[in-house]
Amino acid sequence: QTEYSKPQPLKGKRVLITAGPTREKIDPVRYFTNPSTGKMGYALARQAALLGAEVTLVSGPVALDAPADVRVVPITTAQEMYEEVIHAYPEQDIVIKSAAVADYRPKLTFDHKMKKSSDDYVVEMERTKDILMELGQRKEHQYLIGFAAETNDPERYGREKLAKKNLDAIVINNVSEEGAGFGTDTNVSLLITRKGKDQEFPLMSKDQLAHNILSEAIDEIKKGEE
Ligand code: CTP
Ligand code: CA
Repeated sequence: QTEYSKPQPLKGKRVLITAGPTREKIDPVRYFTNPSTGKMGYALARQAALLGAEVTLVSGPVALDAPADVRVVPITTAQEMYEEVIHAYPEQDIVIKSAAVADYRPKLTFDHKMKKSSDDYVVEMERTKDILMELGQRKEHQYLIGFAAETNDPERYGREKLAKKNLDAIVINNVSEEGAGFGTDTNVSLLITRKGKDQEFPLMSKDQLAHNILSEAIDEIKKGEE
């Protein structure tokens, strides 16, 4: 198939994707984060753009180049991601939250570098906002997809998140499995939709998985419109 005749089922649709980790600062030289590299989110953004969508990618700090034809909105903290995502939400058709958002941040951030003194050092943490939960509560016409990174009983926890966060679909990754999870170019996942469709995706590239996730969303949206 030649480039110009590729089907563009997402033409005229707006897709919002979040990717990467967040950073929660303790002081100017230290922060809490996680091993997310953003590869899954960037693959989703790239594939959504290839399918014709107008794509916004709200991204934590990662070492990846912006995919072609994607608007990248760089953020650092969970709070910044929350603000960008909530702002863009009303005009979106599909929202996919693949970012690894910090669940906690230091209660206090110091504006000067902390000096070491005592042997023990306790950092008091507080919860960040659950962005996806908020999107589920505010959902109108949007098709909302979440991710779940689990190490034990992935399916049970994934189903719980699908229901609790009012999602249309969830991609469950068993991050303790070989070739899955943080930093890899591949994933092994289970996609569950609210309508009750379960699909197991064996080991495959994150780009292939991204394409499959988007195809499922396109299918369900089309069925909903019929
Ligand atoms: N998520 C979010 N905001 C947060 C935490 C998580 O939007 N503050 C989103 C993630 O982007 C992901 C989904 O929620 O799409 C599930 O994230 P995960 O960490 O697996 O689940 P949590 O709900 O945070 O629960 P826990 O970490 O306790 O398993
Ligand atoms: Ca979490």
